[in-house]
Amino acid sequence: VFHTVEEVVQWRTQELGDTRSRETIGFVPTMGCLHSGHASLISQSVKENTYTVVSIFVNPSQFAPTEDLDNYPRTLPDDIKLLDSLNVDVLFAPNAHAMYPQGIPLDLEKQRGPFVSVLGLSEKLEGKTRPNFFRGVATVVTKLFNIVMADVAYFGQKDIQQFIVLQCMVDELFVNTRLQIMPIIRNSGGLALSSRNKYLCPESLKISANLYQGLQAAENAIKGLAPGARLTRSEIIDVVSETWAPYVASHDFKVDYVSLADFKTLDELSVVENTVEQKPLVISCAVYVTDREKPDTVVRLIDNIII
Ligand code: PAJ
Repeated sequence: VFHTVEEVVQWRTQELGDTRSRETIGFVPTMGCLHSGHASLISQSVKENTYTVVSIFVNPSQFAPTEDLDNYPRTLPDDIKLLDSLNVDVLFAPNAHAMYPQGIPLDLEKQRGPFVSVLGLSEKLEGKTRPNFFRGVATVVTKLFNIVMADVAYFGQKDIQQFIVLQCMVDELFVNTRLQIMPIIRNSGGLALSSRNKYLCPESLKISANLYQGLQAAENAIKGLAPGARLTRSEIIDVVSETWAPYVASHDFKVDYVSLADFKTLDELSVVENTVEQKPLVISCAVYVTDREKPDTVVRLIDNIII
């Protein structure tokens, strides 16, 4: 009779031997339209594993009816060229029916079949404007993990809440694929690379780089704290807002949220102190950027810094 997870796992390993060979599989799930951000995850996997599998699947269940599912950029031939040059072993590019045999109607009431939810974490930050987003992500990642059975999967810090939600899912559903987080790749101006940057004209792209400047100003304020000193939440948020003020005034930026939260729980912090007890925190934001050439085009960009 076993009462702990560790005992069962140990029993299984002892009886069957470690069924995992010393060869490993690394996995990078994506929605395609690959850029240098994706490439950095893929290169890391190729470096660390015997085989690397990449998936390209624009997952319908993580899009809201109002979002850009049909218009999401699809560039498969170019993606394949890039994967080839990076020495990827396998590309998995399924269609929606293969992943959702019961179909995936946009009307949530009509959806059928199994889904994976990480309650609590999924409702914060991104979840406020995108209510079913993380349910879609956790569901498709579970399906992909069960298919690929990788040892390790690589995710970008760019989507920090996605990583935190999936880490909780892996820990608490006892998933046998380990997660590895990789740093954000930015352009020379500091703008985090994203497939959605494609929607913006060069001038708006340049302005968007100020997203990161705002977060960096807050980071500098926190890192500049003398031992024992503290900053309140509103003082830190003010530093970000001041940096963005000109772009808010010119209607380039409309701020959705700025968050100052605990790295693990995403609980909002009321104060940050320079003491050894201060846990890792994340400053994150989502901002609507209106394109200067096509004012009907509004792109929601996210960024973050872990401190
Ligand atoms: P996608 O947006 O294509 O991103 C795939 C992976 O690339 C994610 O882990 C994301 O964080 C990482 N990534 C994107 N831009 C990056 C950048 N500038 N620097 C570093 N990493 C970056 O995230 C998804 O797809 C989907 O939600 C998915 C996990 C595939 C589930 O459908």
